[in-house]
Amino acid sequence: MVEQLEALLAGERDLIANAANLAALIYHGLPDLNWAGFYFRQGGELVLGPFQGKPACVRIPLGSGVCGTAALRAATVLVPDVHEFPGHIACDPASRSELVVPLLESGEVLGVLDLDSPLVGRFDEVDQTGCERLAALYVDHHRSPGQR
Ligand code: SME
Repeated sequence: MVEQLEALLAGERDLIANAANLAALIYHGLPDLNWAGFYFRQGGELVLGPFQGKPACVRIPLGSGVCGTAALRAATVLVPDVHEFPGHIACDPASRSELVVPLLESGEVLGVLDLDSPLVGRFDEVDQTGCERLAALYVDHHRSPGQR
């Protein structure tokens, strides 16, 4: 999937277009997902970006839900059962487990990559490491050459 993302990103620097393709790559490439997509940080909240799946909540305050928690902590949050996560925001009631990876650039949170599954315990450390790699590749691709 990393190789597929490298091929998709090649020669294109538009943040939204590349996020849309990454969301589609993940959604159709990984089994048992009902949502995959992005939220981008605007000040104190996360705003919905490109995604695949059912319509979702548009704005999430930092610190709220799984996405807002990952953004506030600047760390990945893996939730085996969303019913056990206090404050989980149920955009699609079918979602039972969730993996949220922050988009980090020099320690700053640009947004999050969010994956939802209708299965309890769908995500493991392999999914986490893989998604962190995809998120890092996505962020790194859009850094200007002077920042590298
Ligand atoms: N469940 C998320 C909200 C986003 S949707 O899953 C797409 C949360 O608790 O942050």
